[in-house]
Amino acid sequence: MKILIVEDDRMLGELLQECLQRLGHERVRACLSGSEAMSAMSEESFDCAFVDLRLPDTDGLQLLTALKDNNHGMPVVMMSGFPTMDYTIMAMRQGASDFLTKPFTLQDVALTLQRITKERQLLEQNISLRLEVQARKELEHVNRKLESTVSEQTRLFHISREIDEIRSSDDLYPRIVQLASSLDSVEKVAFYLAPRDTGSFVGIAAFGWRPEEPWFQEISFREDKMGQLLASDASHFLIGHEQIRQFFENVPQTTQTMSCWPMRIRGEPFGLLVTFHTNCSGPLPPEQRRLFDFLIKKASLAVENMALYESLICNFYGILRSLVNALEAKDLYTGKHSERVTHYAAKAAEVLGCSNSQIESLRTAGYLHDIGKIGIQDSILTKPGALTAEEYEIVKKHPVIGDSIVSELGLSPEERSIIRHHHERWDGAGYPDGLSGSAIPMLARIVTVADSFDAMTSKRSYRKAMSTEEAVQELLKNRARQFDPEVVDAFVYFIKTMGGNNDQSQK
Ligand SMILES: [Fe+2]
Repeated sequence: MKILIVEDDRMLGELLQECLQRLGHERVRACLSGSEAMSAMSEESFDCAFVDLRLPDTDGLQLLTALKDNNHGMPVVMMSGFPTMDYTIMAMRQGASDFLTKPFTLQDVALTLQRITKERQLLEQNISLRLEVQARKELEHVNRKLESTVSEQTRLFHISREIDEIRSSDDLYPRIVQLASSLDSVEKVAFYLAPRDTGSFVGIAAFGWRPEEPWFQEISFREDKMGQLLASDASHFLIGHEQIRQFFENVPQTTQTMSCWPMRIRGEPFGLLVTFHTNCSGPLPPEQRRLFDFLIKKASLAVENMALYESLICNFYGILRSLVNALEAKDLYTGKHSERVTHYAAKAAEVLGCSNSQIESLRTAGYLHDIGKIGIQDSILTKPGALTAEEYEIVKKHPVIGDSIVSELGLSPEERSIIRHHHERWDGAGYPDGLSGSAIPMLARIVTVADSFDAMTSKRSYRKAMSTEEAVQELLKNRARQFDPEVVDAFVYFIKTMGGNNDQSQK
């Protein structure tokens, strides 16, 4: 140990120093006064101190206090020739570790050092344990914070991924309310569109409502109050139980806290997500607000992107329809062919029991089935007579060209198959891929029959139009050869029972 001795009796100080050195403690510094001791303390640190109770410039007890203030853990042994009980008690109360009575022997000093060493060991153990406990507490705190951050990040990632996966605006709003309902304390959610021109709110999606609570669509907002809030820049506003009547006219009495989250595109509100909370009377916790803010911003962006994309696709689709019109306008004999084929195909699909989405696909892609012809020279397309073998080979490329044109249009595989495969034959002798039987996609098989029927009943420069009956006979003749027999049967049923070919006058 490094030991400080404060003793005004130089001889006694030197004797104690010698004792300590004989006991193996070489690093000893002896001071003759309190001020000298304080100066030594400011220069270096000591592991323990021996202090005389009476010093020339200060009282030993005062020095004890000063030393303890400077280094609280350092053991201090008080020394006196005449220790009274009062002094001893006072010294112990002020933190003295032991009392050494003068004159002392080597054995007295050795015993005192043993006690101090033990005290120091206990003190060190105590400090070490306290540090360990402190470190463990800090670690637990950091772990809790880390867990909470990881959990928040995971939820943000989940929200982000869920919204990124949405492909149509039909799915968007139900998914948004579903995601909002998965956040803590949310009991039910509803989403309202706020069209600017009508000034009213329209409920279009809800989650968490029980069958006996059909009132979400019937909530009546007080337009003026909600309008004011929407016009503000607030990311959300919380409406407590007592305020609800100011904002809504017919919300049940049992409703607790509600949160309204405006959704904006470029600062303009277009909708309102309303969440109903249980067990939440005050403001939402910051973590929950962050999750909601993220969900609202991400969803608003998705709505904007989807609207832009749909508008682009709509424009592109419009352009393609115009091209089909332009293409057909060049040929006196094919005017409105695509429109009629689409009509026939949709009707035959109804007879066949196709789903609404399949019929919708036929309406979308049926019109574009010959779009690939814009890649074929006009001289071939509008040639008055029969085509040569080479010219026919060129015309046969139009399904593949058409498929390539619509590849970026976002059509479904079923829709694209109409364009690519409407010249395949049931017996496999068609083009471009030589598919046969049920390997040819169903909607393409329907368009094939509709396409052929319209071609046969249309006038050409080199032949007259067939009558409906003749065309039906031709279809029946090629049943299970060129055409799917089931589709032919449905088509013929449609023509005969529903007055199908009523467009003859337009040709
Ligand atoms: Fe075609």
